[in-house]
Amino acid sequence: MSFLSETLARVKPSPTIAVTTKAQELKAAGLDVIGLGAGEPDFDTPENIKAAAVRAIETGKTKYTAVDGIIELKQAICAKLKRDNGLDYEPKQVSVSSGGKQVLYNALMATCNPGDEVIIPAPYWVSYPDMVLLAGGTPVAVEGTLANNFKITADQLEAAITPKTKWLIFNSPSNPTGAGYSHDELKVLTDVLLRHPHVWVMTDDMYEHLAFDGFEFCTPAQVEPQLYDRTLTVNGVSKAYAMTGWRIGYAAGPVELINAMRKVQSQSTSNPCSISQYAAVEALNGPQDYLAVNNETFVRRRNLVVSMLNDIDGITCPTPEGAFYVYPDIAGCIGKTSKAGTVITNDEVFATALLEETGVAVVFGAAFGLSPNFRVSYATSDEALLEACTRIQTFCATLS
Ligand SMILES: Cc1ncc(COP(=O)(O)O)c(C=O)c1O
Repeated sequence: MSFLSETLARVKPSPTIAVTTKAQELKAAGLDVIGLGAGEPDFDTPENIKAAAVRAIETGKTKYTAVDGIIELKQAICAKLKRDNGLDYEPKQVSVSSGGKQVLYNALMATCNPGDEVIIPAPYWVSYPDMVLLAGGTPVAVEGTLANNFKITADQLEAAITPKTKWLIFNSPSNPTGAGYSHDELKVLTDVLLRHPHVWVMTDDMYEHLAFDGFEFCTPAQVEPQLYDRTLTVNGVSKAYAMTGWRIGYAAGPVELINAMRKVQSQSTSNPCSISQYAAVEALNGPQDYLAVNNETFVRRRNLVVSMLNDIDGITCPTPEGAFYVYPDIAGCIGKTSKAGTVITNDEVFATALLEETGVAVVFGAAFGLSPNFRVSYATSDEALLEACTRIQTFCATLS
């Protein structure tokens, strides 16, 4: 019998981290590796935010804080939710954690009982199903299709709901596809939820500000105010403000749920870093103009990658509305043989052969629950993207 817990045995380690580790190994061995695996912007944290953190250190804001966040940050979050999303929340309805990841984890730990089902549209961010498993629940994947730009339909959601369904986890714009649901596309899903009052929605709005070509971000409680009492709106500063290392995420929702999440946090990590909390206040309250500037860079890179991938025979790459990922379909490459003699039987084999034969690191689609695909993060320089896409083109052109 293993010393390790049965719960942990049900969970797999993060495949995205595995890809990064493999790429680092090959780099250390001398291969010229271009990493398109990382899920973080390549920009530096803005100066005003760094300055706020320095001020926090200098003024002694270096002690324990309230378990789920300082009041200044909760107020800034309420103001943000009103300003950007038209949502009314009070500080007591807000919880702050060490990254969006901990927010989601706390919420699932606080609510899942054995047998509870959590609907997760696929492809999904790798951590959702494993967090549900850790919390004792059962993940239920609902697959989007390439034809529908990887989004799920109302009929699919309706069919997945059972008396045991506890949550729908919703993520738009999405990691790994970048797909964003328009107001109308989201409304048909919230209409389904209205018919099932026992189902709550956990919306992961982490990529809210990374929205392109006039795409208007919307979130469930805004689109359907009747869902307000059973919605947990999750967001954070990691992606929009280039603050992945600072570890601040937050959620707003019903007080009872927020209190339960605080209880989980109080017996695990206590408060998120005090200095990061003051930096996050500045991120949310300070100037927002660089968001649009960053998005111009992301759009340029997205267009470069999408057009170079679509030039490849065997690959189809939709143009996403947001985030900094694309999720090309590689159905046309499956069954072929690479120059080095590898038979491409699935997307994991494709990604491994691509890395070993060309040095380009991407994450295979099976990790995100929809195949055959791979995920490209284009949060890296134009030069690196051009070189990486050229290598992918050559790799695919030599498949036979
Ligand atoms: C969809 C999504 N949600 C949540 C997170 C976690 O964000 P954080 O770094 O704030 O924990 C990520 C990070 O990759 C993500 O892609």
